[in-house]
Amino acid sequence: MFSSQDGGQGTAVVEAKPLSILWGSQTGNSEGLARKISKTLGGKGFVPTVYDMDEYDVSKLSEESLLLIVTSTFGDGEPPDNAAAFHAFLHGDQAPKLEKLKYSVLGLGDSNYPEFCKCAIDIDIRLKALGATSIVERVDCDVDYDDDFDAWLKNVEEAAGAAASESTEAEEASQEPEYGKKNPFPAKLKTNYNLNSEESAKETRHIEISLEGSGLSYEPGDALAVVPVNDAAYVDDLLAAAGFTGGEEVEGSTLRKLLIEEYDVTTLTIKGLKAYAKLSGSETLAGIAADKEVFKEYVWGRQFIDLLTEAPVTFENPEALLGLLGKLAARLYSISSSPKAHENEVHVTVGVVRFDAHGRARKGVCSNFLADHDGEAPVRIYFHPSKTFKLPEDPSVPVIMVGPGTGIAPFRAFLEERAAVGGAGQNWLFFGDQHAASDFLYQDQLGDFQKSGLLNKLDTAFSRDQAEKVYVQDRMRENGAELYKWLEAGAHFYVCGDASRMAKDVDSALHEVIATHGGKTEEEAAAYVEGIKKSKRYLRDVY
Ligand code: 2AM
Repeated sequence: MFSSQDGGQGTAVVEAKPLSILWGSQTGNSEGLARKISKTLGGKGFVPTVYDMDEYDVSKLSEESLLLIVTSTFGDGEPPDNAAAFHAFLHGDQAPKLEKLKYSVLGLGDSNYPEFCKCAIDIDIRLKALGATSIVERVDCDVDYDDDFDAWLKNVEEAAGAAASESTEAEEASQEPEYGKKNPFPAKLKTNYNLNSEESAKETRHIEISLEGSGLSYEPGDALAVVPVNDAAYVDDLLAAAGFTGGEEVEGSTLRKLLIEEYDVTTLTIKGLKAYAKLSGSETLAGIAADKEVFKEYVWGRQFIDLLTEAPVTFENPEALLGLLGKLAARLYSISSSPKAHENEVHVTVGVVRFDAHGRARKGVCSNFLADHDGEAPVRIYFHPSKTFKLPEDPSVPVIMVGPGTGIAPFRAFLEERAAVGGAGQNWLFFGDQHAASDFLYQDQLGDFQKSGLLNKLDTAFSRDQAEKVYVQDRMRENGAELYKWLEAGAHFYVCGDASRMAKDVDSALHEVIATHGGKTEEEAAAYVEGIKKSKRYLRDVY
């Protein structure tokens, strides 16, 4: 489709075609994939250029002929920080007609969130509305995106008429380290204890894992991917409800072993519910699956096993059950250690999810796998690097860190790193949790950091120690004048923790502080925030 002839000579000459690849990302996944696309298509008759969406000159959009977009979605349905401006431009009055444009969109997301891949969907719909032609239908990838990505890229390559050329994939594969996503490292868990005291309503585990023999390394700001195994008691309940013994031979293993180690037996997705509704013939379930809002309400506190009790099914064979399940995916945890402080170790800070709902005890798969782990069995891990959530390269640049609850994790890593590096940069931490007496995570270590002079300011908000709730954003407002001063001095501003409420409220408080103490209007404050986002000084790791 894109090959051209050199007029008159009669010889077919393949002209390299310009291709723009835009990525929108909070953690760097999309950027990684954008670079992979560029590498793959670069040798096949295209001249790809990869753009951080924020750095893309939107006035060029109407001249593009071929555009690929890879974007994740932030928190609950918003564009990632670096995609916000592009998303807004596309949806605004200034957006050009794009009749010449051929494109395809790849969405990255987590189907456990109701607004799965919303940013990718928005962009896809809008490009179409502006007249562009989709050459390959958008693919919305779930957490485990490798296979979907490969299939999408292959289709794009074909549809865009890539010229054949030798693939360098085989060479690249041989250079990959031995352990990684495709081959997680079976690590030894060395330490595992509760950071909360007994009387706390919460359980937050401090976990230390040995990297010895792995050849793997990481930096503060990265995440650790942990591949859990399922709770055997839950799997036994599931087998009983499905009418199997577990001893059935399937895929060269037993059904029970497969369900414990390989399959996601808990997550309830809208897709899974649709399939189950069809199999069981349940109109009630079909109705729930047909409406996103109804599904959202239904799914809270429910797991796959609930379907079996609500609308029992007779499975013809084990494969019929497995066909309804996805593969067990790794869970990501923000790393809470610096390798400079703990050689050959990685630490994570895990909030344990346990509650009762709809008549059953519910347990988060990975947090309980880790919480109950006695150090015997291996823990399958690999690293998930972040390109953006990093300390400033210059250790003399001040940092402000807002991390309530388990949000403290990357900031313990940052502080350990800065203690080891020994730069002159000032450090300010906002921490919050329910009660000072039972929930002050890493209190002793933070105290030591204060004494040593590393942690210059520590502001805490213990929400339930007084009649009125106090949150980290209240402390930000109270310290607004100084916070603004730090920002003006070039401080980086980091937020980690809950995306749906905390990160939004902290963002509003930040706008307010800048308006109040910078003497700015609402619009000017918004532009200031946009500015620090663009210059990668406002960084968020939220979930
Ligand atoms: P709460 O549970 O008492 O309401 C860590 O979970 C801390 O974050 C807790 O103190 C929790 O308070 C608090 N928190 C809850 N909602 C919040 C919000 N919207 N913004 C900031 N902190 C919040």
